[in-house]
Amino acid sequence: MGSTPFSFITFFLLSLCFPHSSSESSSLQAGSSLSVENPADVLISQNRVFSAGFFQVGHNAYCFAIWFTEPSQGHDLTVVWMANREEPVNGRRSKLLFRRSGNLVLRDAGQSVVWSSDSSTASSYNSAAQLQLQDNGNLVLSSLDDVVLWQSFASPTDTLLPGQSLTKDTKLVSSRSQTSYSSGFYTLFFDDDNVLRLLYRSPERSSIYWPDPWLLPSQAGRSIFNDSRIAKLDSLGNFSASDTFRALASDYGTRVQRRLTVEPDGDLRLYSRKLSGAKWIVTWEAVLQPCKIHGICGANSLCTYVPEFGRKCSCIPGYKMINPNDWTQGCEPDFKLSCPNSTTEFAGFAYLPNVEYYGYDYKLYGDYTLERCKAVCLELCDSCVGFHYKYDNGGGRYNCYAKMQLRNGYHTPGFDGDIYLKLPKTILSSLSNMTTNDNLNLDCSSSSNDTVQLDRKYTKTRVSGLLKFLLCFASGVGGLEVIVIFMVWFFVIRSHEKSGAGNMQGYMLAATGFRKFSYAELKKATRGFSEEIGRGAGGIVYKAVLSDNRVAAVKKLKDTSQGEVEFLAEVSTIGRLNHMNLIEMWGYCAEGKHRILVYEYMEHGSLAENLASNVLDWKKRFEIALGTAKGLAYLHDECLEWILHCDIKPQNILLGSNYQPKVADFGLSKLLNRGELGKYSSFSRIRGTRGYMAPEWVYNLPITSKVDVYSYGIVVLEILTGNNPMRGVHDSEDIDGDQARPKMLVTWVREKMVGGALSTEAWIEEIIDPSMEGQYNIREVEILVQVALKCVEEDRDARPTMRQVVEMLLSHENDS
Ligand SMILES: *[C@@H]1O[C@H](CO)[C@@H](O)[C@H](O)[C@H]1NC(C)=O
Ligand SMILES: *[C@@H]1O[C@H](CO)[C@@H](O)[C@H](O)[C@H]1NC(C)=O
Ligand SMILES: *[C@@H]1O[C@H](CO)[C@@H](O)[C@H](O)[C@H]1NC(C)=O
Ligand SMILES: *[C@@H]1O[C@H](CO)[C@@H](O)[C@H](O)[C@H]1NC(C)=O
Ligand SMILES: *[C@@H]1O[C@H](CO)[C@@H](O)[C@H](O)[C@H]1NC(C)=O
Repeated sequence: MGSTPFSFITFFLLSLCFPHSSSESSSLQAGSSLSVENPADVLISQNRVFSAGFFQVGHNAYCFAIWFTEPSQGHDLTVVWMANREEPVNGRRSKLLFRRSGNLVLRDAGQSVVWSSDSSTASSYNSAAQLQLQDNGNLVLSSLDDVVLWQSFASPTDTLLPGQSLTKDTKLVSSRSQTSYSSGFYTLFFDDDNVLRLLYRSPERSSIYWPDPWLLPSQAGRSIFNDSRIAKLDSLGNFSASDTFRALASDYGTRVQRRLTVEPDGDLRLYSRKLSGAKWIVTWEAVLQPCKIHGICGANSLCTYVPEFGRKCSCIPGYKMINPNDWTQGCEPDFKLSCPNSTTEFAGFAYLPNVEYYGYDYKLYGDYTLERCKAVCLELCDSCVGFHYKYDNGGGRYNCYAKMQLRNGYHTPGFDGDIYLKLPKTILSSLSNMTTNDNLNLDCSSSSNDTVQLDRKYTKTRVSGLLKFLLCFASGVGGLEVIVIFMVWFFVIRSHEKSGAGNMQGYMLAATGFRKFSYAELKKATRGFSEEIGRGAGGIVYKAVLSDNRVAAVKKLKDTSQGEVEFLAEVSTIGRLNHMNLIEMWGYCAEGKHRILVYEYMEHGSLAENLASNVLDWKKRFEIALGTAKGLAYLHDECLEWILHCDIKPQNILLGSNYQPKVADFGLSKLLNRGELGKYSSFSRIRGTRGYMAPEWVYNLPITSKVDVYSYGIVVLEILTGNNPMRGVHDSEDIDGDQARPKMLVTWVREKMVGGALSTEAWIEEIIDPSMEGQYNIREVEILVQVALKCVEEDRDARPTMRQVVEMLLSHENDS
C-alpha cells in the first residue's frame, strides 16, 4: 500500500475503498479482487515463471494479462495472454473481481464491465471456487470439486505455451505492433478444409500466405482428412498439428522456457530461452523469407529484406507511391504508355534481377527467346506491364510469363528469375545510370501508422486526490448523491469518446482481393437477393453492389448439400485463377447452409443473350471465339491443377464492356490431379448441358479435357450460324422421307462444307448467320469452321487441344 502522508483515518478509508488480496500468491479466492492501482496485486505461479495482473499498455491504459515474470534481458516483459486487448482499462479504480458466483469480471474505472469469463454457474457450491495461476502459465478458475470452469489456455491471444492447444474454436491473432497490443492483421487458424494456415487480413484484402498459397494441401505436406483440428506445442519443442504439420525447435529435446507467437510482422515463431531473464532465441519460424508475408507492400512495389532493418518497400522504377503514408496502397505508373506507343520505337524494358512477382499472369509462353518475349509484351499493350523470364530446369528451356499486374513482389538475392519491366524509352534513358538497389532503401515500417500507442484520453481528467478522498469518505458515510453525480459526469465523457472511435467496420474490397463474405453482408449488397440476373443448373445469380460501390454478380448455389471442405477446395482453386478470359471471383460465403460465390459483374450479359438479339458483328464473334479458347487453354494447360469446365455453353460465356469474353461458372467443374490424367475419371454423374455434351458422356468413356473441346466446337458453330444445337436445323433443300426431323447442327455444317460441290464462298453463304447480312471475313469464317469441326470429332483423340485451337486461330492472324 502507498505510504501517504495523510492521517491514519485517510489510510483506513482508502484501504476500505481498495481492498485487495495478499501479495505473492498464485491464487485468488472467490469474493476478492485485484486492483490496477496496487502494483503488489499480482498472482505469481508457484514456480515463479509466470505472473498475472494489470499490465500497462499505454498512457494510463492497462490490460489484465499473463506474462513471463522475468523480463527479457532486464527490460521487456513478454506477455503471453491478455483478457481485454481491444479495450484497455483506466489506470485508476479498475479491478479484476472474482465474484462469489464463480464469474471473473474486469471492471473499468469502477464503471462498465469490459471483460468477463462468463463462468458463473447457478450452483451454490461454487462459492468456494478458486482462481490459480499454474506453473505452465494457465490461469485456471475451478470449482471446489476441481471442475475447471474457465481457463486462459482456452482463449489464446497471440501465443501458445507448451501444453496449450490451438483448436477449431480458437486462433492466434498477432498484436498490431511491438508496442500496440490490440489485434493486428495476422492470424493462425484452422481453415475450413482442416489445414492450419496463416492469414493476412486487413480492412481491404485478405489472403493466405502460409503454407504457400499456390500449393495444394497435399503438395504442402498437409492432410485435409483429420477434422479434429488441434495444434499443440510440447515442452521439448515439438509443434504438431492434426493436418500432419510438424515442426521441431532447433534446440529440440532440452527443457527450456518456450513460446510460439504470431508476431506483428506476420511470421509465426517458436522461441526459447535457457535461463529466466535471458534473451529469447528464435528456434523455428514458419516463413523464412519475410517478404513472402502479405500485406506489406502494395501493387507495383517491391519488398526487400535487409537483416538489420527488416522489410522495406520501394516503388519499381518509373512508378510513384500512391499514398506517401501507406505502403499497402502501393505505387502507380508515373507515365502513360497506351497502345499506339507500346512499340519498340517508344517503349523498352528495365531489367530487375532476382525479383519475383507472384500471380496475375496474362499467359505463359513456353520456350520463348528473350527477344520474342519482349515483342509479345509490347504487342499486348495494356495487358502486359512486364514479364517474368525464367529458366525451366525440368523442360530445359526459357519460359516467358507476361504479367497483367505486379503484386506480391519481392527482391531476394537467391531467386533465379528476372523481371523485365515495360517502360517508355524516355524513362528508361533517365534510369540507365541508376542501379535497382539505389532504389530499394525506403523504409516502410517507420511510415506506417501501426506503432501508435494506446491512449485512453478520458483518463486524463484525473480524479484529484482530494476528490478521491471525498468520494471515498462520502461513500463511506453513505452519500449516494456524490456517486450519482460522479457517474453521470463519467458516462457523458465516455459516451462522447466512443462515438468517435467505432469506425473499424466498413470492410472494403480492393480490386483483386479474394475474401470471405458474411451472409449478412451479401444480403445487404443484393438488397435481400432481389434482382435476379441469371439462373442455371448451379443456382440463381443476383446483381449486387458491394460496400465499395463495385457491382458484382452473386451466385447463390442451390446444391447446399455439398460439404464445406469440398466447397472450399473448389473455391480456393477458382480464386487463384487469373486470366483475362476467365471470370474473376472476388470471394465466397460459406455460412450454415449457404454457399455463395461473388464474381465480377459483366455488363453485356451472356453470349447466349447476345446471339439471340443479333447484336454481334463478325469482328466481335471472332474475338469471342478466340478469347474463349484462350480462357479454356489456360484452364487446361496452365494452371496448377488440371481443371475441366465440363459445361461450356453460350450461357456460360459472359461479355464485358468491350465484348471481351470471359468463361464463367465453374460450379460444375471438378478437380483432377494431373497425375491421374490418363486414368478413368472420378465423375459419377453426367455433367453438362444437352446439345453441347461430348459423346464420351453417353458412351461412358473416360472424361478428359477433350469434353470441353467438344463443347467449345459446338459453341463456335453456334456463333457462326446463329443456330442453337438443341433446336437443330431445318434445311429447305434437303427434303427427304421424314422431313419433320431437323438435322443436327454438326452434320448440317459438315455436309455443307465437304458434301456439296459448292465454292467456299457459296457454302459459307449458306451456313453463316443471316443476321450478319454478308458482313464477314471469309478467310476467318473458313478457319473457324475448320477448327470447330475438328473440335467436334466423335473420336476424342482426333480433337485438338485448346492450346492447339488457340494457335490455329492466331496463325491466321499472322498470315493476314
Ligand atoms: C511430434 O509430435 C507428433 C504428434 O504428437 C508426433 O507424431 C511426432 O512423432 C513428434 N515428433 C518427435 C520428433 O517427437
Ligand atoms: C487426428 O489428429 C489427432 C491429433 O493430431 C490425432 O490424435 C488423431 O489420431 C487423428 N485422427 C486420425 C483419424 O488420424
Ligand atoms: C495516423 O492515423 C491518424 C488517425 O488515424 C491520422 O490522423 C494520421 O494522419 C496518420 N498518420 C500517418 C503518418 O499516416
Ligand atoms: C505517344 O508518344 C508521343 C511521343 O512521345 C506523344 O507525343 C504521344 O502523346 C503519345 N501518345 C499516347 C497515346 O500516349
Ligand atoms: C549517365 O552517365 C554518363 C556517364 O557516367 C553520363 O555521361 C550521362 O549523361 C548520364 N545520363 C543521365 C541520363 O544521367
